Amino acid sequence: MEETGKQLMEEWTVSESVYHPANERTGGTLFSIGNGLLGLRGSYEELGTKEVQGLFAAGVYRKSVERQFQMADTFCRKKYIFNEELMPTPEEVCIIQDLPDPLYCKIWLNGEPFRMWDGNLLAYNRALDLKTGVLDRTVRWDDGKGNITSIRFRRFCSMAERHLVAQEITITPENWSGEVKIESGIDASLNTEYEESVERDWNSGLLLKSEIDGGSTAFQGLENRWVDRSNEWKSESQLRRYKKVATVPAEQGWPVCLEKFGSLYSTQDDNPKTDAEALVAHSADAGFAACLAASSKVWKTLWDQADIQIEGDAKAQQRLRFALFHLLIASPQTDSRVSIGAKALSGQGYGGNIFWDTDINLAPFYQWVFPEWGKSLCRYRYRMLDAARAYAHSEGHAGARYPWQSSIEGFEHAPVAITCSRTQIHVVVDVAYSILRYADISGDLQWLEAEGREIVTECARYMAERVEYNEAENRYEILGVGGPDEYHPVTDNNAYTNYLTAYLLRRAAPLCEDPTESARWLEIAEKIYCPVDEATGLIPQCDGFYGLKDTWEMAGGDWGGPGAEYHECKGLKQPDVVLLLTLLPEQFQRKHLQANWDYYERFIQHGSSLSPSIHALVAAKLGLMDRTKHYFDLSAGFDFMDYNKDTYSGIHIGNFGGLWQAMVYGFAGLELHGDELRFDPHLPENWTSLKFNLQFRGEALRVEVSDGKATVSKKVDQKIKGVLFDLDGVVVFTDKYHYLAWKRLADDKGWKFDEEVNEGCRGVPRLASLQVLLDHNGIDLPLEEKERLADIKNEYYKELLQRINDSDLYPGAIELLERFKNEGLKLAICSSSKNAQAVLDALDLAKYFDVVIGGNDIENSKPHPEIFLAGAEQLGLSSEECIVFEDAESGVAAALAAGMKCVGVGPRERLGAATLCATDYSAFELAALA
Ligand code: BGC
Repeated sequence: MEETGKQLMEEWTVSESVYHPANERTGGTLFSIGNGLLGLRGSYEELGTKEVQGLFAAGVYRKSVERQFQMADTFCRKKYIFNEELMPTPEEVCIIQDLPDPLYCKIWLNGEPFRMWDGNLLAYNRALDLKTGVLDRTVRWDDGKGNITSIRFRRFCSMAERHLVAQEITITPENWSGEVKIESGIDASLNTEYEESVERDWNSGLLLKSEIDGGSTAFQGLENRWVDRSNEWKSESQLRRYKKVATVPAEQGWPVCLEKFGSLYSTQDDNPKTDAEALVAHSADAGFAACLAASSKVWKTLWDQADIQIEGDAKAQQRLRFALFHLLIASPQTDSRVSIGAKALSGQGYGGNIFWDTDINLAPFYQWVFPEWGKSLCRYRYRMLDAARAYAHSEGHAGARYPWQSSIEGFEHAPVAITCSRTQIHVVVDVAYSILRYADISGDLQWLEAEGREIVTECARYMAERVEYNEAENRYEILGVGGPDEYHPVTDNNAYTNYLTAYLLRRAAPLCEDPTESARWLEIAEKIYCPVDEATGLIPQCDGFYGLKDTWEMAGGDWGGPGAEYHECKGLKQPDVVLLLTLLPEQFQRKHLQANWDYYERFIQHGSSLSPSIHALVAAKLGLMDRTKHYFDLSAGFDFMDYNKDTYSGIHIGNFGGLWQAMVYGFAGLELHGDELRFDPHLPENWTSLKFNLQFRGEALRVEVSDGKATVSKKVDQKIKGVLFDLDGVVVFTDKYHYLAWKRLADDKGWKFDEEVNEGCRGVPRLASLQVLLDHNGIDLPLEEKERLADIKNEYYKELLQRINDSDLYPGAIELLERFKNEGLKLAICSSSKNAQAVLDALDLAKYFDVVIGGNDIENSKPHPEIFLAGAEQLGLSSEECIVFEDAESGVAAALAAGMKCVGVGPRERLGAATLCATDYSAFELAALA
């Protein structure tokens, strides 16, 4: 697209200023926005074309008895379905659901319907702001009768409130006055795969429920809000299109502005219906600008961590940021129930399913930049372990076989006719490899022990059963498999698979509890056939590869047509041996890279988007700067050029993960050898420097490459390595449950008790709180009885805790915890409450904390420093390396007595002693404590 001059990229912006209908499908993908939970394609509001429109939510799939590739065009069919006869029956698959469109709107300007392509389009611009994730379209339009209007549409998926999409429409009549009529609603008319019904219909808003075939039920709220005008709407719904209609006066030169707020929750969430309604209501109260400001603040913290700066090449910089933007909006962050599909949330290509791309191409970005997000991708594979075990068992094997293409349930969704889906067992080693790399990079051995070990050993177990012993050669072999290169799907001894199996078995052996089994794994690792020409370093992709035809002989140059015997030629869809070399840098030397590059590069066809970035990576390591730049441009421009003619079906997110690797592993030349980070940079001539951030074993690093050298420094605020949180009033609000429990006890006893009396119980231990009640009622009781009553209250409280939910969280607490985790900080809960663990479990918060100290673990209550000193000790940190978040005076005093800086969560008047006071977590920066 850009090549035709229609699209212009500026710093932090992707934009186009010419409208062309032929670009609509690709533009729908290129102008996608999202936040990892929602993805919204860049459709025009007035368009109404299914191919372009699309709202997707992570994990919201439908089950369908259909053939995956029936959705695709003949190009895809030819490409993948090698043997149609093999697929006589349709198979059940999961496809990411295209949900009803909350941005639906139709506009009439003085009675004339506005559609950009009717009338005269005087000016047009569509711009995606990569910094804040806002898509902005401006149009100057003549209705054909001389009435000129400017219209601006802005939309974003909030990063602060990830269930929210917000839109602003501003209409300014330039030379006329009259009326503007708007129809605004939720459009379900383009999809038929669910049953939808209106759950609630109010003056300005709607709540729509969609029951998705075999999947979750989605609830979507919508709130329309006129700015500076009375908010009067009429319902006027028609089949599958639920809409509100309003007409407002418009005056020449005065903007008419409508704000729309759409929410989406599903039955994956706790209270989808009430939350969907509440979110649009409070977002509409806050208004578009405030919601955008909150989202932009989060975007800033993400970019501070993820940006890679290239000096000297503006175009490369802009394209790289586009790639990083997509990596940021693709991640489900710490939600390990879902992973990232081959097209992320930008289209229905590959049915939104997950491939090995995530483990090999995408995972390194997250593992090095947002370790908690990287861990979550690993945890997703852990959740799918039982399905992988079932797959292995269905073949009569032990261990776990991860599928080639899967979704939320972890089962194989690719039809058997797609030969490579059954022969590419390297997926199993890829998953295990990624788990081991996560542990190597993060140093998170605790998780490796808790969950990762099980994945790695089960994968090893499976691979150990897939080897065959060749007596004549005294070696193990793997027969009838394919490596990543799909043009050679059935081969013997694919090098990628064999070498990585050896690697896996060696690393799995010490994790295995059975010494006999582990000894066998080591024996296989030793004897598995890993051929290499010792003199040159050349590795054959598979048995017999060198004997294949040197040419790329395809009938008519097309895919899979009759007589096309591509597996008899050396043409490669994507790197296989070359990719292997990048995965095991500690094992291969430069001679291997050089020899295999020289041999294989000439056969590469880049039939997969995963291909160019890996070539850029290797070319950079070899210092072949012309080739590096060529492949960088190919990878960074893959979707802009629509290189594979399928960008319409979604962004090639695996390519962007590979591009990040090309920057860090290629241009900066990073290799991890044991505990050591090594750099060997090679920058193109005009790139004067390259700067980026990494997280390595809990430390935040800044890497700056220039003049052929890489300088690594620790980021300034790294003195602080741990954060100790009080729980109540800092992370969650449990006061109301305490109040209700005391109230129930008081009611049982016929005592007087109200919210005012309850104030005296705030932050006070259980027995002392009871004393407040007793004093208020003028009652005295023996200690034993007091203890009994305090226990009863505690039972009531625990019962009430069943009701605790996300609305009881301190605003912004989750984002703060995720931010700290991603900055590599260790986190602890230090709460005097004896129910701390129960509260954490009820809200699924335990995963954020390395250590939890509750009321049962200490002898002295705050203001004694014991709890914080114990917290620091258990995190393995000194007092100076920790800070505390506290909302009670006694807690602040305890933190200071422990020699720690303290953030007082509350007003300065109450918490005067704290190092600083903060109530808005989204604005909190560690640097403020320096
Ligand atoms: C590639 C595979 C990849 C899949 C999904 C195919 O074109 O050859 O390696 O897993 O696309 O991205």
